[in-house]
Amino acid sequence: MYYPDELVEEVRAKSDIVDVISGYVRIQKKGSSYFGLCPFHNEKSPSFSVSPSKQMYYCFGCGAGGNVFTFVMNYENFTFPEAIKMLAERAGVNLPEIEYSDEIKKKENRRARLLEVNKEAAKYFFYQLRSEKGAIGYRYLSNRQLSDETIKQFGLGFANKTSDDLTRYLKTKGYTDDLIQEAGLASFDERFGMHDKFWNRVIFPIQDINHRVIGFGGRVMGDGEPKYLNSPETPVFDKSRNLYGLNFARTARKNNIILCEGYMDVIAMHQAGFNQAVASLGTAFTPGQANLLRRYTEEVLLAYDSDGAGTKAALRAIAILKEVDLSGKVINLEPYKDPDEFIKNLGKEAFQERIDHAENSFFFEIRILERDYNMNDPESKTKFHREIAKKLCGFSEEVERENYISAIAEKYHIGFDNLRKLVASYAAQTGLVKPVERPKSGIQKKNVPEDNIKRVQRLLITWITDEPKLYHKIKKYISAGDFTEDLYKVVADKLFTSLEEGNYNPASIISSFADEEEQREAAALFNTKLEALETEQDREKAFHDILYAVKKNSFDYYSTRLGTDVEALNKVIEGKKALEELGKTHISIDESQ
Ligand code: GTP
Ligand code: MN
Repeated sequence: MYYPDELVEEVRAKSDIVDVISGYVRIQKKGSSYFGLCPFHNEKSPSFSVSPSKQMYYCFGCGAGGNVFTFVMNYENFTFPEAIKMLAERAGVNLPEIEYSDEIKKKENRRARLLEVNKEAAKYFFYQLRSEKGAIGYRYLSNRQLSDETIKQFGLGFANKTSDDLTRYLKTKGYTDDLIQEAGLASFDERFGMHDKFWNRVIFPIQDINHRVIGFGGRVMGDGEPKYLNSPETPVFDKSRNLYGLNFARTARKNNIILCEGYMDVIAMHQAGFNQAVASLGTAFTPGQANLLRRYTEEVLLAYDSDGAGTKAALRAIAILKEVDLSGKVINLEPYKDPDEFIKNLGKEAFQERIDHAENSFFFEIRILERDYNMNDPESKTKFHREIAKKLCGFSEEVERENYISAIAEKYHIGFDNLRKLVASYAAQTGLVKPVERPKSGIQKKNVPEDNIKRVQRLLITWITDEPKLYHKIKKYISAGDFTEDLYKVVADKLFTSLEEGNYNPASIISSFADEEEQREAAALFNTKLEALETEQDREKAFHDILYAVKKNSFDYYSTRLGTDVEALNKVIEGKKALEELGKTHISIDESQ
């Protein structure tokens, strides 16, 4: 963030969130907040809330949340500087020209230039497709049943046969050989000089979530090797952290995202109305891409090729999705090879049906596994059952495991008790059935038991932001150090400091996180829902329980760190006293007291 904090804060303070959001979403007052249909996911009853007192929004359905900046960034696909510019203008605040450090300036300039040259190249390809020379490309795309509208939406283009016309064109626009090469659009050769990377191909510009062209894919028209050429990685093109089509899919308002392998598949699906489709970029699906998807959906449907390679890739993708706690399902495309061919042959209604009947990814894995065994041979069959049991041990949560055991037992005609015993014996033998290791992505999981402790910490922060006066009643028991999640600790520290200094202002805390994921996480902290409690007495008890649980967790946390952490001892002694006192103290949550 390059604007000074005070200025960011001034713009934020002058941009009332209810005012700004009303310009985009119909919201209605209900109690102390406003509610409406969430613009970030598809829903029929309003779970999108805007709080005038907190100057924040939060969706209880999809978890989107933040302050006025994050809203504009997400809704308009703006970067932070773009969002602040727009809001400053709206609020009549003058923004100074920013002073960047030389190094940042250089790097940003380079990135900006790369994006510019890509945009210029995309324009050139787009124009070529409509020229006489490009007719052959146009015909190719039409033959593949793409409409004009679709071609336009995806900015498809054409690179003609001349081997250096793009380079020459870009040079007339003032771009250097150096930059053109760095963008991967051409390379230099002692014998031939500069020559374009793409020629005689139809072109698929690849865009980031903000619709900026970051690279290209080019397909031969007809048979020929290689079928696709892709831009190399560049400072603006990170293949492991972008997905083709996500710039459209992110606002598709469907409750899943379809992940497939090919550019053509994405385009065919979008054209048929499945605008939630995305594809990886000519490389295998990565954990970085899974994390990206996780921002927009909870369920990913795999539409991978139905051949052996596609099945293998799907199995790998399922494992990656699992690591970030995304639920995966598999769309069966048989008897066709890929979504494009499926839709061409059977149409969109049939495809929708396949979506509705997408197979649970665990069942899919087991079904594929079964192919390696002979069910007529008792020995082979037993081995198969053992493999199943081994896999079932992967579910660390008991309820989930039991549910799968019963489903699989029924499906494969294994006695429930037998399978259960087999699983138990495996678990005992290998010490399996333990929490699965999570990638260190810093991202929170949802709905798992160990989340309870995080939940009480979130509830306490939400409660204090809702009723800031309570802070002064409990501050002798609690401090930022009692929040054991790093991000929570930072938020609590800022919140408590602002309350101490009398400038309580939770929305400004969100702006202090540069990373979008952290901003969401922070917004969630201020918006954790507590079940409605009828009486004042119940509310008081709930508040006391939450406070006690946070303190108790902090005590346990530091107790296990005695000896390794110098601060721990103080924290433990202090915590023990506070817990004893809390145990016998009544805290009134009545604001007037
Ligand atoms: P069509 O054959 O045009 O329908 O494309 P497709 O998307 O169905 O192709 P396919 O399933 O063969 O490949 C899926 C994706 O893998 C493509 O969209 C490319 O991103 C990538 N890919 C395919 N062939 C090649 C290749 O020869 N080289 C590279 N680098 N990538 C390829
Ligand atoms: Mn295809």
